[in-house]
Amino acid sequence: MSTPVRIWDLPTRLFHWALAICIVLGIVFVKIGGNAIQWHAYCGYTALALILFRIIWGFVGSQYARFANFIPSPATLIAFLRGQVDGGLGHNPLGALSVIGLLLVVLIQALTGLFADDDIFFQGPLAKYVSNSTVALLTSIHRFNQYSIFALVGLHIAAISYYYFVKRENLVRPMVTGDKLITSTLNLQETVDTSRQRMMALAIFLLIILGLYLLIA
Ligand code: HEM
Ligand code: HEM
Repeated sequence: MSTPVRIWDLPTRLFHWALAICIVLGIVFVKIGGNAIQWHAYCGYTALALILFRIIWGFVGSQYARFANFIPSPATLIAFLRGQVDGGLGHNPLGALSVIGLLLVVLIQALTGLFADDDIFFQGPLAKYVSNSTVALLTSIHRFNQYSIFALVGLHIAAISYYYFVKRENLVRPMVTGDKLITSTLNLQETVDTSRQRMMALAIFLLIILGLYLLIA
C-alpha cells in the first residue's frame, strides 16, 4: 500500500510554478518587442524576487527545500551515478545540480537585466548608476545568458520526461500536490508544511518585494 508523504511545501511549489510562468511570459514579451519590454521588466523583477526568496528558503525552509538536504558531496554524487545509493525523497543528487544551475542562471539573467539597455525604449533601473561600457557588458551577458536558460530548462524538461516515460515515475504531480506516494513506511520523514511555515514564507517574500521596490523605484 502506498502512503502520500508531503515532500514539497506550498511555498516551494508556488515558487516553482510562478518562476516558470514569469520566465515564459518574460521571454514572450521581449520577443514581442516595442513597449512590451516594460512587461518584460515586470516579469524579470518578479523572477528576481522569487529567486531571492528561494535562496533564503534554502536555508530556513522546510526539510526538502533546504540546500543542506539536497546539495550533494562529490562522493554522494559519484555513488548515485554508480547506482550505489538511491536518490532519496527530495531532489536526487543529479537533479540537485540542475536546480542549482537553474537558480544561478536565472539570478544572473535577472540581475544583469537591471542594468540592461535596449537602446530604444527601455533601460534597466540601475543602468544610470554605472558607466556606458558596464551597461554594454551587462547587456551582452543578459543577451547571451538566455541560451544558458534555454539549455538548462530544456535539460530539466528532458530529465522529467525521462523519469515519466522510462522510469515510470511522475515527478510533476508532487510538484503540484506536494505529496509523493511512498510504498515503504520505513524512515518516512514528512516535510513541515503548516500555516505558520507558509506565513513565514509570505513575510519573507513581501520583505523582498519591498526591498526591490525601494531599490528600483
Ligand atoms: C522556465 C521553466 C522552468 C524553470 C526555470 C524551472 C525551475 C525549477 C527549479 C529551480 C526547480 C527546483 C525546485 C525547488 O527546489 O525550489 C524545479 C524543480 C522541478 N520542476 Fe521545474 N522549472 C521550469 C519548468 C518546469 C516544467 C514545465 C515542469 C513540468 C513539466 C517542471 C517540473 C519540475 C519538477 C517535477 C521539479 C521537481 C524535480 C524533482 O523531483 O527533483 N518544471 N524546476
Ligand atoms: C529572469 C528574468 C529575465 C529573463 C529570463 C530575461 C530574458 C531576456 C531575453 C531572452 C532577452 C532578449 C535578448 C535578445 O535576444 O536580444 C532580454 C532582453 C532584455 N531584457 Fe531581459 N530578462 C530578464 C530580466 C530582465 C530585467 C529584470 C530587466 C530590467 C528591468 C530586463 C531588461 C531587458 C532589456 C532592456 C533587454 C533588451 C536588451 C537588448 O536590446 O539587447 N530583463 N531579456
